[in-house]
Amino acid sequence: MKVDGKHFRSIWFDGDRDTVQIIDQRWLPHEFRVVDLTTLEDFAVAIRDMWVRGAPLIGATAGYGVAVEMARDPSDASLDHTWDYLHATRPTAINLRWALDDMRALLAPLPAGERAAAAMARAHQICDEDVECNRQIGLNGLEIIKKIAATKKPGEPVRILTHCNAGWLATVDWGTATSPMYHALEAGIPIHIWVDETRPRNQGAQLTAWEMVSHDVPHQLIVDNAGGHLMQHGLVDLVIVGTDRTTSHGDVCNKIGTYLKALCAHDNNVPFYVALPSPTIDWTLKDGVAEIPIEEREDEEVTRVWGKLDDGTVAQVQICPDGSPAGNPAFDVTPSHLVTGLITERGVCEASAQGLAALFPERVLD
Ligand code: MRU
Repeated sequence: MKVDGKHFRSIWFDGDRDTVQIIDQRWLPHEFRVVDLTTLEDFAVAIRDMWVRGAPLIGATAGYGVAVEMARDPSDASLDHTWDYLHATRPTAINLRWALDDMRALLAPLPAGERAAAAMARAHQICDEDVECNRQIGLNGLEIIKKIAATKKPGEPVRILTHCNAGWLATVDWGTATSPMYHALEAGIPIHIWVDETRPRNQGAQLTAWEMVSHDVPHQLIVDNAGGHLMQHGLVDLVIVGTDRTTSHGDVCNKIGTYLKALCAHDNNVPFYVALPSPTIDWTLKDGVAEIPIEEREDEEVTRVWGKLDDGTVAQVQICPDGSPAGNPAFDVTPSHLVTGLITERGVCEASAQGLAALFPERVLD
């Protein structure tokens, strides 16, 4: 998508400098910083410390991490070490394991001398596939928005609530939850986006709102607790969120707070959709609440917030008494029965084993 009129992806390979570059998302929306990732350690730090984040982008970054390390040492031992080292960076988004497995399956049978070139080609391809998946998700989600728009008075916007950042910064381009929004605007359908701030790290306030401002998408930032009130008063027509891991039976793991939004949506008959590319489906799991590992992050994300001061400096402040301990589960699981549908690159399906199997028949379910 565009930043100041120039097209960017969230990760790319600069062929002139032979370097992978990313947008360092820790500084947004206040500073737009591009950094090079040149060593395996750089890739691990970028994922672990959330310079890049969002399930599809984590996977794409891991792909390039493997490629860069293969250029240094293409041995079997190095391939195994790279898988382990990158896999340990963050536990919840399944796209990380998907990308690492995909790279290893391609590279392991090859002679060591061929691995570097093959790895880099596949890393580029993973990025391109992600962009295409998200474009298709946008077109499939557009049909849902169109149907709701048809029920409204002419010119009245479709009001869509979203949580966290499932925008282009969380993917390689387009975003998952945001792609249908961009496609709706392109189709001339008026929309209005409710952007949940998404404590503790405020990905909604810092990233989604920035994306919306950059693309002139009508939106309002709301505190996480406002969604229920807005739904009760008929001010939300549709919820679309992303996911970090969805089980083969349709349970959806996403940023902490998503489950509460799904409960509210269910209680108020608001359709609740989840947009996801297929690498976010964990075909090995059924019961999301019991089986998906939930990342626990540091207390400081809860006890402190980042922001811009009146003098323009970006600073962190403490919002609780000294010594107050915090708890910080980063994700939660929305059971499939609360999900109206899954918007994938192949179409929209019910959040169930049958729904997913109908779209992805090549996946064997027991
Ligand atoms: O902790 P984060 O910022 O990596 O969490 C991101 C999310 O929860 C997104 O909603 C999810 O990855 C979907 S991204 C298309």
